[in-house]
Amino acid sequence: MADEQFAQTVASQLAVIEDKLLEATVSQYSFVTNAADHVISAGGKRFRPAMVVTAAHLGDHFDVDRLVSAALVMELTHVASLYHDDVMDEAELRRGVTSANQRYGNSTAILVGDYLFAKASSQVATLGVDYVDLQARTFAELVEGQMAETAGPGPGEDPVDHHFKVLAGKTASLIRTSAVFGGMIGGVSDESLAALARFGFEIGMVFQLSDDLIDIVSEKTGKTPGTDLREGVPTLPTLLLASSDDAADRQLARFIAGGLDDDAELAKALAALRASSVIDRTRDEITRRADNARGYLAPLPDCDAKDALARLCDEVVTRSS
Ligand code: IPE
Ligand code: IPE
Ligand code: MG
Ligand code: MG
Repeated sequence: MADEQFAQTVASQLAVIEDKLLEATVSQYSFVTNAADHVISAGGKRFRPAMVVTAAHLGDHFDVDRLVSAALVMELTHVASLYHDDVMDEAELRRGVTSANQRYGNSTAILVGDYLFAKASSQVATLGVDYVDLQARTFAELVEGQMAETAGPGPGEDPVDHHFKVLAGKTASLIRTSAVFGGMIGGVSDESLAALARFGFEIGMVFQLSDDLIDIVSEKTGKTPGTDLREGVPTLPTLLLASSDDAADRQLARFIAGGLDDDAELAKALAALRASSVIDRTRDEITRRADNARGYLAPLPDCDAKDALARLCDEVVTRSS
């Protein structure tokens, strides 16, 4: 199949998933449906469904209804985690629109997240117990990652090691499982499933590292730039500041740790951070991990889907460059 034809097939399957996403959230109460659709209708990259669909094409054949369900499970779980995350981070903007916590209040945003998790559970139940088990374990990892971020490193724990564990839980786990779900739907070999798990995990790490970098270097995120800085959420660049050889970096780390109380302080910290060498060191880490991810694809049979997964490695890197 030519690249373009493969891309079209994936796009048409993603279009079906798009329609089903809104169907999956319909409640007997219109205010629940509206609050659930608020973030879903606002768009988003649908990265996890795309991962499920692309990975499924590594197999010889699959049931399209099951493929759609597997992709829905991943996106519904993801969106639910966004509702909860925005409460935790006191975010104001999500996917270019007012965040649900701002629009409806924290209690409603939390309950809508719960509602979406329930809808993800209904979907995954149609796929079988292996899928239910994996989704449950993944969701637990995601929550552990979010809680580890809140808790911070333990006594004597290296802050960067702790940070990577946080990213592994809160983001890489779900992207890894998206790749594995796709492989399971496609009926690939155990060896290929293991390769997909390693690949999905590493690309998930790259994804979050890139996202955190974008929060610092770009204005066009659909989120409020500098949110992590303002909320004091550590990211790789800010952690590298604290242990930098450069005294100006360490001073900036202290300024950020002291709390950025107003927009002027935030703008000052953002500008200094953008000019620091920690940005390039973060880019190096992103590139290194994207190369790892590409390497993990080696055991997979050569095909359009494998090429598409390899291209994803480049895209996830370039989105923050
Ligand atoms: C946002 O995920 C949360 C992270 C794990 C970085 P996405 O960047 O995939 O958000 P959407 O789905 O495109 O809005
Ligand atoms: C992403 O959290 C992880 C989850 C939503 C589970 P972040 O707080 O890093 O992501 P953004 O920047 O709000 O999208
Ligand atoms: Mg957040
Ligand atoms: Mg967060």
